[in-house]
Amino acid sequence: MTNTILIFYSNTGNTARVAEQIASVIPLDVYEVTLNDPTLPDKMLQRPGSSATARNNHELPSLKAPLPDVSQYNNVILGYPIWSNGVALPIVSLLEQIDLTEKEIYPFSTSGGSGLGNSINYLRDVLPNSNVHNGFTAGRWSGSALPAIKKLANQLSAV
Ligand SMILES: Cc1cc2nc3c(=O)[nH]c(=O)nc-3n(C[C@H](O)[C@H](O)[C@H](O)COP(=O)(O)O)c2cc1C
Repeated sequence: MTNTILIFYSNTGNTARVAEQIASVIPLDVYEVTLNDPTLPDKMLQRPGSSATARNNHELPSLKAPLPDVSQYNNVILGYPIWSNGVALPIVSLLEQIDLTEKEIYPFSTSGGSGLGNSINYLRDVLPNSNVHNGFTAGRWSGSALPAIKKLANQLSAV
């Protein structure tokens, strides 16, 4: 039984590729966040800024059930694309619905250039009772993520 779950959302496949690469290096369970209606409304997808507006206005996409049962895991690797400099909206939805209290959270993002954006501050804000690590970003191409993934593997095996 593994102590680690990788939870990710990916709209166009970049984050999914990094997630696959992580799963090929680290023994863990994987959960992909999916939407009830995969066609996101324009107001959530248009750039720039509108996904930030949707986030602030709490217009969040509805997630397919069942959501992951995280009770058995200490470590949660959380992967997401950066939308409007923050976590993608489906991750906002997810964090409102699952309890990550007292978990070790290892975030990673893919983005068009914003890196982790403001996502780590956001996660620390909404998960005050979890230990949100600094995380890493993989750009758009998962090949560049391998050194960071190896570092993450070492971190997890040291826990
Ligand atoms: C609504 C939306 C907003 C985005 N905002 C940003 C952004 O602020 N900064 C950035 O670098 N990339 C931004 N991107 C690009 C994505 O972060 C990037 O393409 C990411 O790798 C997509 O991951 P995915 O293929 O797993 O969905 C945005 C993409 C979308 C759809």
